[in-house]
Amino acid sequence: MVVDRQEFFKTLAEKSDGGVLRGDYSRADAQYVVTQDWSAYTAEQHALWRKLYERQVKLVPGRACDVFIESLAALNAADGIPDFERVSDALYQATNWRLVAVPGLVPDQTFFEHLAARRFPVTVWLRELHEFDYIVEPDVFHDFFGHVPLLFNPIVADHLQQYGMGGLKALKLGGLKNLARLYWYTIEFGLIQSPQGLRAYGAGILSSGGEIEYCLTSRAPRRIAFNAERVMRTLYKIDSYQETYFVIQDFQQLFDETAPDFTPIYAKLDHEDALPANSLLPGDVEIRIDQHRSLGY
Ligand code: PHE
Ligand code: CO
Repeated sequence: MVVDRQEFFKTLAEKSDGGVLRGDYSRADAQYVVTQDWSAYTAEQHALWRKLYERQVKLVPGRACDVFIESLAALNAADGIPDFERVSDALYQATNWRLVAVPGLVPDQTFFEHLAARRFPVTVWLRELHEFDYIVEPDVFHDFFGHVPLLFNPIVADHLQQYGMGGLKALKLGGLKNLARLYWYTIEFGLIQSPQGLRAYGAGILSSGGEIEYCLTSRAPRRIAFNAERVMRTLYKIDSYQETYFVIQDFQQLFDETAPDFTPIYAKLDHEDALPANSLLPGDVEIRIDQHRSLGY
């Protein structure tokens, strides 16, 4: 489970002690970057990472999209919390992106600036054993396991940079809420079509022990064909499984449908009510799940 960045910083702003965020922000630079200090992780922390990794890697075949599975395998991250520098070099070779270590959630402006410069912020701390299944703030397992593999895909890599630039623009245009919904329903909780059936590509799903199965097989949530404007109008749940998943055909569709200038969309949505997370509109194309789906392994 991941928490919404905006909600978190709003909470932070309201508290005078600033003590709501878990990470150590005291050593962060102006861009909220810290050194990972990889050698300071304890044997217990590496062991917990291995447990999280082992559980999750077993769940990805037949559930995660192929790109994710292939990139994850190439990352060699099964043995312990990865050294970001090692992975960053490989990532730079592949798609010109780098990883930067951060103490946790960072302000919107900073987050967008990193993405726009092809830098992905990864939280340095790991959850504790009692948080094995559920965590409020994103930790290194969510950020690394969930997000980093897809950064090796050139289309996703370009899309995320565009998203970062779009975020800086949305801040000026008052479109942040709308753009955040797009991120939530794609990069965090997106589903994608494959010849073998639906697959997950969203990091919030892929780093979750329960939602990775739920999103594909439960009859409870809606699955609706992706439409950028529809997504930008839709509220989301931050403390339960999603009530609706949006399904892309492929990453090129995600790239192409988010490429147009959002300025008129922000203006229009400004005087429309947001839709509840479980809405179904006349124009929505619902995607049915195959009741006899095979995991293919
Ligand atoms: N096209 C969007 C805009 O004009 C920017 C964007 C690109 C947003 C990719 C999300 C993803 O604001
Ligand atoms: Co995330």
